Parts: sequence; structure tokens; C-alpha cells
Amino acid sequence: MKDYEHDYPDYTQSPDWEHGDELPSNQSQNRTFYDVVEARASRRGFLMGGLAAAITGMVGLGVSTRGGLAVSTSPLLGFDPVPVSEDDTIVVPEGYRTQTLARWGDAISGDMPAYHGSNTGEEQGHQIGQHDGQHFFPIEGESPYEGSSSDGIYVLNHEYIEPRFLHADKYAGQELSRSNVVWQDGTRDDDEVLKEINAHGVAVFRVQKQESGEWDIIADPRNRRITGNTPMEIAGPVRGSEHVVTKYSPDGTRTRGTLNNCAHGVTPWNTYLAAEENWAGYFTNTAEDRPREHTRYGVSNRPEGNRYGWHLAAGGADEFARFDATPKAASAAEDYRNEPNGFGWMVEIDPFDPESTPVKRTHLGRFAHEGVIFAKAEAGKPIVCYSGDDARFEYIYKFVSREVYVPGETDGAILDEGTLYVAKFNEDGTGEWLALAPGRNGLTVEAGFADLADILVNTRAAADVAGATKMDRPEWGAVDPATGEVYFTLTNNTLRTQAQVDAMNPRAENQFGQIIRWRENRDDPAATGFAWDLFVIAGDVNSSRAFDGSALNEDNIFACPDGLWFDADSRLWIQTDIGESAMNQGDLEPMGNNAMLAADPRTGEIRRFLTGPMGQEITGVCTTPDQRTMFVGVQHPGATTTPEEWAAGQLNSHWPDGNGAIPRSALVVVTREDGGIIGA
Ligand code: FEO
Ligand code: CA
Ligand code: CA
Ligand code: CA
Repeated sequence: MKDYEHDYPDYTQSPDWEHGDELPSNQSQNRTFYDVVEARASRRGFLMGGLAAAITGMVGLGVSTRGGLAVSTSPLLGFDPVPVSEDDTIVVPEGYRTQTLARWGDAISGDMPAYHGSNTGEEQGHQIGQHDGQHFFPIEGESPYEGSSSDGIYVLNHEYIEPRFLHADKYAGQELSRSNVVWQDGTRDDDEVLKEINAHGVAVFRVQKQESGEWDIIADPRNRRITGNTPMEIAGPVRGSEHVVTKYSPDGTRTRGTLNNCAHGVTPWNTYLAAEENWAGYFTNTAEDRPREHTRYGVSNRPEGNRYGWHLAAGGADEFARFDATPKAASAAEDYRNEPNGFGWMVEIDPFDPESTPVKRTHLGRFAHEGVIFAKAEAGKPIVCYSGDDARFEYIYKFVSREVYVPGETDGAILDEGTLYVAKFNEDGTGEWLALAPGRNGLTVEAGFADLADILVNTRAAADVAGATKMDRPEWGAVDPATGEVYFTLTNNTLRTQAQVDAMNPRAENQFGQIIRWRENRDDPAATGFAWDLFVIAGDVNSSRAFDGSALNEDNIFACPDGLWFDADSRLWIQTDIGESAMNQGDLEPMGNNAMLAADPRTGEIRRFLTGPMGQEITGVCTTPDQRTMFVGVQHPGATTTPEEWAAGQLNSHWPDGNGAIPRSALVVVTREDGGIIGA
């Protein structure tokens, strides 16, 4: 058992580190998810299904590699599973075909600059970045789920960059890891920094199915890149507060850019929400006395920061220097001490209005937002959405609006007033939503929370005080359209110490992750209580449990669930993100490359549907309304190339272009040869 901070002084060397992860920063004494699972299993108090009993019996239990789910009973899953793969290619079931679309570097706007290894920063500002959360909005612009299945506006998150691929010509031949940038006398090249910032953010572009059946990007006035520099409004309770006063916005109403946009959300009023996940590492604050709104999120105190050192761009431009949040002037309105407080939010984007300014919706809380998922909106009822904080031992949140949903009238402003809650999981299979609001759950002035804006800027600290349950890195959520049950991936957490393990706990060092689900009391999304269970414990044939208590088998072993999405038929799509330092090695070796599986939430059956190329993660999935075209994101192929291999020009992936090319994130368009519904 490794202790994170002692055994991995450089935490990026730990087996579950992913590019961009922050050092754990939750020092509170709140209970871990495993404390709860253990206690619950020991009392056999599960409410839903047999997984609980399986947990109690897991230690030392010999299990068949072929569980009860090997033979299909699911009416939802009509394809033959694909095997685990370590090939540099996409594999889909027999009867399916694929096309790649929207590669990193493909142009969508401006004079449509062609991709090559020496593109400028300005050119990257008209090109696609790396792929994560995404949605196909039918072209009619009326509903995010109904309308054309051959013409739409695609919105795509760009989470981070791989500098050696981004600056491929300049960085060729140098021994560089997947996160290294090149410094010149302690400064960064201005255009490299601009290119890196412009490769972040979100792309909005029209896609259309051609007569050939292939999909293309189409020039359209709505196409645009939103980047790490794009002006944004701050809305909700934090707008205009002292926390977001900067030299750029002395009245605290605006900020520039969105960063590390991981997963996303789709609102019932046909807009898109981009999450800001591991944003803290872009900033530094070298002051001795650093505020909790920096430390509780992992803002670096190293002069160069934890990522790319943008504030050290040689020319010293304001838009770059702002990433240094060290107080430098007499007041907050004269420096960028509050710049990090403009990040960690959900950003609303209207894909159909290219003139609209993106809006940071602060009442949804500030943390490492993986994404956001909305409960089914019903006229006359509040809007409810859920969001996970993807860091080790962090929490799951829910927002309930004050106003009710009025179809055709409601817009994003409904997210500016309401109540933010955090989840507490109880041992008896129940759970509570704890309000994070002034005077509630210990959030008093005496406890250090001056008002609602203070609570929201310090969401993690407020959740600590309220007594939330520490989880194993909450990633995407999904709501079953048939039942309203909410599913969340908990991707992994190897940091659980020996002190948290006992005979009842089957998962010392959680390398593999699990999927939790819950049902709100009275099936009311706005309820303050719920019942929960585990849907699947991921892992290999020795360490996993499907819903019926059997082990996963060769058709469905997987690890590190991350992307999660329900299609209209309640097929649950599960995407994996085994970290680059663990992929294809050790205990993670049997899972091969990252993959996508489909599950039936009622029978519990899971089947592997797609495997990806080398070094990537599969992340982001949606279909056209007719469910006959599926889009799947492939992020960071080739990321497991070592520095030595990069220097020697021997990359372990050339996907998707082949022929020795630099690997590029891309969408995979999946269709069936018989034109049928994907997965059925
Ligand atoms: Fe960006 Fe939590 O994955
Ligand atoms: Ca990742
Ligand atoms: Ca993710
Ligand atoms: Ca992940």
C-alpha cells in the first residue's frame, strides 16, 4: 500500500495519475465512500439487488471467469462484444462501420487554416482542439434531442493539450514527456502560449451527413472557437462580489476564458454547459499566506505553476500575466489575485447564437467540475442537475432551482437562483442532500462563511463543514430516461490508506473504480433524500462484480469508468479512462486500451462495444435523434509515448492518419451497415 504523498513525492508518478490531475487537497475528516460501503455491507442492508452480498464475500473468494451474465438476456444489447485490444486502431462489433471526423487541428472558422505541425497560435484559434464532452444539436435549434439526424451544430470540449504534438515541428527530437513544455531562459515563447490557450476551450461547428453517407464539417456563420481567452460573463450569486474583482473586471462581472473543459451538460432549453475541471494548475500564487479559495483547490505555489507557465510568456501581455495570482498591487482591482476565482464553474454556451457571450453559472458551485447532468425537466417543477467533483475524496453535488420550468420561456437565468446541495451517503442505503446555503448545515458567519457568494467560491470548504461523503473521484453522471435513476462513475482512487481497509473492504487501493446509482425519494428529483446502491464494481475477473454478483468476464472486464451516457432507450454507455501511467501495465494490463461498453440497467448485463487506439481515452458520446449515427470521442492517442520514443521519432500511435503522422484526437462516427439503431 502506497501512501500518496510519502511514497510518491512526485505525485505524477503514482499509478493512477492522469495528465492534469491535481494533488489531493481534501484534508477534512469526512467519511470516505468505502467507510460507508463497508458498514453497509456488514449489515447486509442493501436495498437494491445482490451486489452488496457479493462485496461481503469478495475477499479470498474464488470466482468463475464466466458469471451468470455471459449469456445475453438483455433486449437492449444486440451486438456481439469486441475483445480487449492493444492495437492502434478502432474496433467495433461486426456489422458496424466507422469514420473519423473533426480531428484536432481541423479548421472550422476564419480562413479555415489547414492543419500542420507549425500552425500559429492564431490559426489554432480557428481549429479544433482535443476531445472530451460533446453534443449533437439538431439544426432546427429547438430541442437538444429532437430534429434532424443528418444536419446539426456540434459542440465539443477541449480539455487540455499535449505540447509535444501541438508544437510538433519545434519540439521534434527533444526528450519530452506528454506534459513538458520547452522554456527559454525561464520564459515561454509568446506564440506557443497563445497556441496552447487557443487549443483549450470549446468548438462549435456545423456537421452534415453527405450523400455518400460520410459526415463533414460545414462552414457556417455559427461556427466558432471559444478559448482560454474568450470574454465571459459571471452570473449568479458570485457576480459582482469581492471574490471576482480583478484588474480586467473591477466590478467583478466578467472574466476571460474557460479552461480544462472535461465533460459537459445539455440544458432543457437547448444550450450547452462546459465544465471547468482541473483548472487550478494553470495558476500560481507564490505568496506565503494563500487564501482557501486557492489552497483547497490546489493552486500551485511554485513560481512556474503546475502546468505550462503561461504567466511567464516572454512578452508579459496582460492576458498571459493574469495566470500569476500572487498579489502585486495595493488592491484586488489592480492585479490578478482573484483570477483563479473566475474558474471552477460551469459555463453556458448558446450554440445557435455566435454573438452570445458565454456565461459562468456560479450557483452550480466551484470545484473540479467533471460535467453536469439534468434530471428530466417537467413543466411547473424546478430544474434539477447533478455534478461531480473529480478529485480524490471529493463530493457529488445537486442544484435545485427556485423557479419552475416553463417550456419555451425558461433560459439559463433559472440556474442563478436556487439551492446547491452536496451528497451524504448513509450506511443503511439511504442518502441525504445537504444544503450549502447561509445558516444551514453549519455554514454560518462564525464558521467562516460570510454569505452565499463566499460559500459558492469555497464550495469544497462548505461541503467539508456540511459533512459530505468523500468519494473515489466522481466523473460523469447519467439519468436513466425510463426510471429517473441517477448513475455516476467513480473512476478510481489508489490513495485509500491501509487505515481505511478492513476485512469487509474488498477494495484496498481502488485502481479500477465503480458505478454508483441512486433513486430520489418519491421519484422527485428535488427531494432531499435518496436510496443508493452500486451498479457495478469494475476490475478484472478476480476483482470485479456485476450487478448480479458475478464477476465480469472477457466480454466486459473494464477499469476506470469515466464517460457515462444514457441513450433514449435507456442503454447505458460506459467509457473508460485508465490513466496514462497505468495503461497496458500491471493490474490494468488485462483491460488493454481504453474502451466503451454498453449496459442494460435492468438486467445488469455489460458488453464491450468499442476499443480505441494506443495511449488514448474514450470520452464523449452522443447519437443523432434517430439513434442511427453515434459520435464517440477519442482523446490523446499516443500519450503513452515515452520521452525517449518521442525524441527518436518513434511514436506508439499514429491514429487516425497513419503513415507515421502525429496522433490526433478525433471523433469516431459509428453507423450500422444495415442502418439500424446503435447498440440494438
Ligand atoms: Fe477530465 Fe475527470 O476527467
Ligand atoms: Ca483523462
Ligand atoms: Ca473525464
Ligand atoms: Ca478521467
